[in-house]
Amino acid sequence: MKNYHCNQITENTLNQEVQLSGWISKRRDHGGIIFVDLRDYTGIVQLVFNPDDKELFIEAESIRSEFVIKVKGVVSDRLEGTINKDLVTGKVEIIVSSLHILNKSETPPFKINDDNVNEDQRLQYRYLDMRSDKMQNTIRFRSKLVQTIRNYFYSKEFVDVETPILTKTTPEGARDYLVPSRVHPREFFALPQSPQLFKQTLMIGGIDRYFQIAKCFRDEDLRSDRQPEFTQLDVELSFTEEEEVIQIIEELFNLIFKDMMSNKNDLIFERMSYHEALKNYGCDKPDLRNPLILKDIKELVKKVDFKVFSDHVDNMNSRIVALKVPGGTSLSRKHIDDLTEIVKQFGAKGLAYFKCEDVFNIENGVTSPIKKFLTPDVIQNILNEVNAQNGDLVFFSADSIEVVNSSMSALIKELGLSLDLLSEGWKFLWVLDYPLFEKDAEGNPTSIHHPFTSPKNYKDLSDTDVFNIPSRAYDLILNGNEIGGGSIRIHSKDIQMKVFELLNISEEEMNKKFGFFLNALSFGCPPHGGIAFGIDRLVMLLSGLDSIRETIAFPKTQSASCLMTSAPSSVDEKQLRELSINTIKPVK
Ligand code: AMO
Ligand code: AMP
Repeated sequence: MKNYHCNQITENTLNQEVQLSGWISKRRDHGGIIFVDLRDYTGIVQLVFNPDDKELFIEAESIRSEFVIKVKGVVSDRLEGTINKDLVTGKVEIIVSSLHILNKSETPPFKINDDNVNEDQRLQYRYLDMRSDKMQNTIRFRSKLVQTIRNYFYSKEFVDVETPILTKTTPEGARDYLVPSRVHPREFFALPQSPQLFKQTLMIGGIDRYFQIAKCFRDEDLRSDRQPEFTQLDVELSFTEEEEVIQIIEELFNLIFKDMMSNKNDLIFERMSYHEALKNYGCDKPDLRNPLILKDIKELVKKVDFKVFSDHVDNMNSRIVALKVPGGTSLSRKHIDDLTEIVKQFGAKGLAYFKCEDVFNIENGVTSPIKKFLTPDVIQNILNEVNAQNGDLVFFSADSIEVVNSSMSALIKELGLSLDLLSEGWKFLWVLDYPLFEKDAEGNPTSIHHPFTSPKNYKDLSDTDVFNIPSRAYDLILNGNEIGGGSIRIHSKDIQMKVFELLNISEEEMNKKFGFFLNALSFGCPPHGGIAFGIDRLVMLLSGLDSIRETIAFPKTQSASCLMTSAPSSVDEKQLRELSINTIKPVK
């Protein structure tokens, strides 16, 4: 139905007869001549219908936006003054000799390529939204990325293996999506939160090197970088250690950046321990483009008689920090109030600060709502600690470690963006030396990664403080986003059972949930490890998009529904009966 794509119609095809098919982007009637913008996935070309051919002209008058047509015509030069420099095809037009309307279209609810359409409408009519240049580019970019990834892993002798979707629970920290079994009444499959247990089982099965572009399902609170159904690049290797996994992944990213981002130089991958990340940035995924760094000042305010500080000075679980903002004296009162509201969302009780107009004149040159509580010596020590210069502002936070870390890392992020402090480019960071466990809401141990992560040394498991046990996990951060994470795994059944025990999982529960896996571990499991990357997140970052919904052809909304298909939806009573399901009132 076509022998050219729209954007191939340039001076190179001048005077040739061409045949094209596509959608009507725009129709303009100009004093007896009809101009039509024809669009396909490559771009737009201008068609001209002259009134000389009456039948053709009448047909052309009937076409509307988003009609699908096939045309034949001769490429001709545009008149001087009608050239469109913004289009590759802007110097020429096609004088149409034949037109076939292949399909009509209802008037679309929005114009294709209009940037101001609300997202709900775009998601409801995703097939129209997808005709836009932006969506076309992203979907094609994603396809090319996946192709690059696949080629790389094939070249390194990794085997692509599909793992089940109807399966048993794989704990990755979210709720499971459950699928009722008709054949086994009152029994359920869980959709995989990741292929974790299967990829480890593949190593036990001697596959040696595995990768998969895998769908994962997690019923969790959604954000702009989280979807209930998302795609991972999942990787696992036998007989490996941290450095080999890291080297394979760094080589992959160098290839991706050369092939897809026109990067000429080798990428730089920095490394930082989990503890250093929390100490300096309050979070384990710092954006190294942001120069703001936390400084602990508990020692400096030990003797200060100010409740905000003194309440925390002797508490092991508290932190007191200062954050210098270069040039921050220019922040308005209103801006500081807004920032205070941000930290309060994370449980902080306030956001004290110093404005440093003149650091050499503490009496008159440093102003602060908490100045009356501090001696000039303490102020001087704090200014020294953060190396304050004239024009800087210093924020303070005193609270539990969790509240200080979460609120101040959010503050660092916000200031980085609103004060335009971020440096240019791509900052990769490996975060290493994670502890094996962290505290859950009740103070009990829960895995920071997942329960299959190996401790640094097996003997560490007898440490009296379980929160101190170091693990062999690693995460890769790109510009403050966690793009991937993995670990060297436990490959001994006894150790795996010991870790479950530390997680307060009873032997009965272990066997019920992971019995098959514990059994597999006892049949000669090789040492192994791996990693997984969020493909959607990666596409979002590399394409400079704000939300992973933009990277997925048919995404779910923030409230985990599909506006195009109206899923999820209620089902017939008959279907429920077949599944032995009796619905009750929704749980609030
Ligand atoms: P993890 O849970 O860290 O590790 O997931 C790996 C990567 O997947 C991406 N990701 C998500 N992307 C979109 N929406 C979500 N809801 C979502 N959740 C995670 C992130 C994350 O870094 N099995 C382990 C990996 C391993 O140990 O090998 C795992 O799934 O980019
Ligand atoms: P207050 O004594 O509550 O009026 O607080 C005095 C100043 O300290 C105000 O600027 C508050 O925003 C700030 N502030 C209060 N609590 C904290 C806290 N936990 N950490 C840092 N600053 C605080």
